[in-house]
Amino acid sequence: MDEPTFRTIIEPFRIHSVEPIRMTTAAERADRIAGASYNLFQLHADDVLIDLLTDSGTGAMSRDQWAAIQRGDESYAGSPSYFVFRDAVRDLFDFDHVIPVHQGRAAERILFSVLGGPGRVVPNNTHFDTTRANVEATGAEAVDLVIAEGRDPASHHPFKGNMDLDALDALLTARGADVPCVFVTITNNSGGGQPVSLENLRGVRELCDKLGKPLFLDACRFAENAWFIREREAGQGERDVVDIVRDIAALADGMTMSAKKDPMGNIGGWLALDDPDLAQECRNALILTEGFPTYGGLAGRDLEALAQGLKETVQHDYLRYRITSTAYLGEALQKAGIPVLSPIGGHAVYIDARALLPHLDPLQYPGQAVAVALYEIGGVRSCEIGTVMFGRRPDGTEAPAPMDLVRLAIPRRTYTQSHMDYVIEVCQRLAERAHRLPGYRIVEEPNALRHFTARFEPVH
Ligand SMILES: Cc1ncc(COP(=O)(O)O)c(C=O)c1O
Repeated sequence: MDEPTFRTIIEPFRIHSVEPIRMTTAAERADRIAGASYNLFQLHADDVLIDLLTDSGTGAMSRDQWAAIQRGDESYAGSPSYFVFRDAVRDLFDFDHVIPVHQGRAAERILFSVLGGPGRVVPNNTHFDTTRANVEATGAEAVDLVIAEGRDPASHHPFKGNMDLDALDALLTARGADVPCVFVTITNNSGGGQPVSLENLRGVRELCDKLGKPLFLDACRFAENAWFIREREAGQGERDVVDIVRDIAALADGMTMSAKKDPMGNIGGWLALDDPDLAQECRNALILTEGFPTYGGLAGRDLEALAQGLKETVQHDYLRYRITSTAYLGEALQKAGIPVLSPIGGHAVYIDARALLPHLDPLQYPGQAVAVALYEIGGVRSCEIGTVMFGRRPDGTEAPAPMDLVRLAIPRRTYTQSHMDYVIEVCQRLAERAHRLPGYRIVEEPNALRHFTARFEPVH
């Protein structure tokens, strides 16, 4: 008999343990967000109904991950759990040195403390906020070289995360001596969760080889990126995602990793690389702040959970569900006439707040206005990825970011389709009142990563 096909792609799991959501009223929410100075990061999470602030560390672990936690060995040095973790990483990313860290930004800080410094320049398709901040904290310059389509919210390019190879070539030719390494972020989070093609990665590799520069991956969402390659890149459709991931890894010299994303951890990360001297310098830096190189700031049980998570994240049933359920939300918003970045990304749907609120100037933070309104209307917490996050330059001046987006990030295996149907309704209400939403001004901000702690005021 032919395999029957069905329109509905189900969650490929049953719910094993539940966490209650506390219902709130509109009046409560108005009070809470004012009390948080209109900064969504300052809310108490139990005042949030559906938390789409981030997909980082917020996923549900599996039964087998919880079981693996029981196997955690907490030896300070040489824990067996480290070797289980290292082998699981190497099974996908075959780098000689695998250095655990407590989360992705620790890997960034350590690597750039060795490779960065004044006068240096680091190209990336799009630096994530912590990556940019860690490059800049050393006095180096962070340059984003994503293709032009990657900056156009309406473009339908299948690999909008691709690096602009001509621009990279030009930078390497003009300033080769200042470039310590080239980075590619997969998927491109700040550019809308958009994938990078294998072909583009090969092109980046060739340019790196021309000048002898190491290529590093910021690989948080490598499995989602590999699934998009399987779905969209010529000749990849029949391949196992594991083989695609290995091909990606083989093109690079190293990686930084936040294991709070595709590896299904609630905490964790790693730095992996081939260069033994660089690895040694990084280990020395690691010991100073993170811990001994076989635990790097994590518990042995965390390392076990990540090793198991790495096996689960490359399963096709999981990835099909993951990418389809993100598209379910995005396509429903498109049908409702809400401008969203297309194609829909892997881990999140990005509302184009600049297009939705044309009455606001980017320096009145349209993304912040949408994010606050989503919370006030329905208790949905999202994240501004725009002028608040990227508008402040290292010299303290301010300029509009390339896009003003609001990210609805979907935690892995956490919410069901009815939660998403609720989010769709909240977004529809938002669209109805979009023309009336006020802009915001910042009344207090730190020098770096201001979006986490800045205080805002509505401008009526
Ligand atoms: C692309 C990218 N790089 C780096 C990071 C930093 O990772 P962490 O939050 O674990 O420090 C993130 C986190 O969201 C990310 O999305």
